[in-house]
Amino acid sequence: MLKDSIQTLMAQVKEIQANNAEELEALRIKYLSKKGEITALFNEFREVPNDQKRELGQLLNQLRQETEGRLAELREQLGERLEASGERLDLTRTPDPIALGTRHPLSLVREEIEDIFSRIGFTIAQGPEVEDDKHVYGMLNFAPEHPARDMQDTFFIEKEIGVQKPTDVLLRSHTSSVQTRVMTSQKPPIRVLCPGRVYRNEAISARAHCFFHQVEGLYIDKNVSFADLREALLYFSKEMFGPETKIRLRPSYFPFTEPSAEMDISCNICGGTGCSFCKGTGWVEILGCGMVDPNVLEACGIDSKVYSGYAFGMGVERITNLKYRVKDLRLFSENDVRFLKQFESC
Ligand code: DAH
Repeated sequence: MLKDSIQTLMAQVKEIQANNAEELEALRIKYLSKKGEITALFNEFREVPNDQKRELGQLLNQLRQETEGRLAELREQLGERLEASGERLDLTRTPDPIALGTRHPLSLVREEIEDIFSRIGFTIAQGPEVEDDKHVYGMLNFAPEHPARDMQDTFFIEKEIGVQKPTDVLLRSHTSSVQTRVMTSQKPPIRVLCPGRVYRNEAISARAHCFFHQVEGLYIDKNVSFADLREALLYFSKEMFGPETKIRLRPSYFPFTEPSAEMDISCNICGGTGCSFCKGTGWVEILGCGMVDPNVLEACGIDSKVYSGYAFGMGVERITNLKYRVKDLRLFSENDVRFLKQFESC
C-alpha cells in the first residue's frame, strides 16, 4: 500500500544522519534522485484511484518537504562541524605567496643588447638552429675543405640513425648563418640583429660549453663604411659598459669579412689599469667584426658594386661574464635557483 510506504519512509527520513559530504549526497540520491525511493512513490501515485489522490498527494508532498528539510539541516550541521575543526574552506583567506621565477642572466643581457641596437634602427631576425652547410659555411665564403668546419667543432647530424654517411645537416656553430638567411630573403637596406643559440663539439668545462649564445649584427646599404661600423660599436660599448668605456680594433681574419677585426673594450673591472681579469693588459676582447666580404654579398644575390655592409658577432656569455663576473660557464645551464635568484632585482 502506498500509504504504508509513505509512512515508513517518513519515519526513516526523520532519523537520517550524515558524517560527511559524501554521505549526505548518498542520502539525497537514495531518496530524491530520479531513481530515488520518493520519486518511485510519486510514480506509483499516478496509478492511485481518483478518490484517494487528494489525501495521498498531500502525504507525498509532506514526505518530500520533510526529506528536503532534513537534508538541509544535515548540510548546515556539517558546515558548522567543519568550521569548528578548521577544515572548512575559507575563500576569504589571503593565499600563500606564489614563488615566482627570476629572469635568467643571459636573457637579461641579450635583451639589453637588443635594446641598445634597436635604438639605432636594428630589428630582430632569427634563423634555424638545425642548419645546412651552405648557410653556415658555404655562402659565408668558407672554401669546401676549409678547416673551420673542424676548427668550429661542428656537430653534424646523421640523417639515418646509426648510419654515418657524409651529411650537410648540422647544428649551427655561429649565428652568422642568419646573415645568409636574411640576405637571401630581404632586399637592402638591411639592418638586423640576430640573437640565438649555437653549438660546438667541445668538452664541457668552466670555460667552454657545447652550446652557448651569440648575437650577430648585419648592416647592408649603399656606402656603408668601416667608420660606420666603428661608430656603432663604440656607441654599443658605452651604452653597455658605461660612458668611460674605450674600444680598440685589432686586425683579424674571418672568411666572411674583409677587412676583419676583433674588438677589445677597456677592462670594465679595473677601468683599464690592469687586473687579473684582463691579464694586466687593461683590455678585454668582446667581439669579431668586419666589412661583409663581396663574395658573401654576391652568394646571397646582392650586387657588391652597389652595396656594402658591416657585420659583427659577440658571445652573450662573454658579455654577461664581464657585467656580472660569472666565472664558470656551467652555471648558466644548470638552473640552480640559488644562482638564478641573484639576478632577481636586475
Ligand atoms: N661568427 C664568428 C664566430 O662565431 C663571430 C663573428 C666574427 C661574426 C666576425 C661576424 C663577424 O659577423 O663579422 O666566432
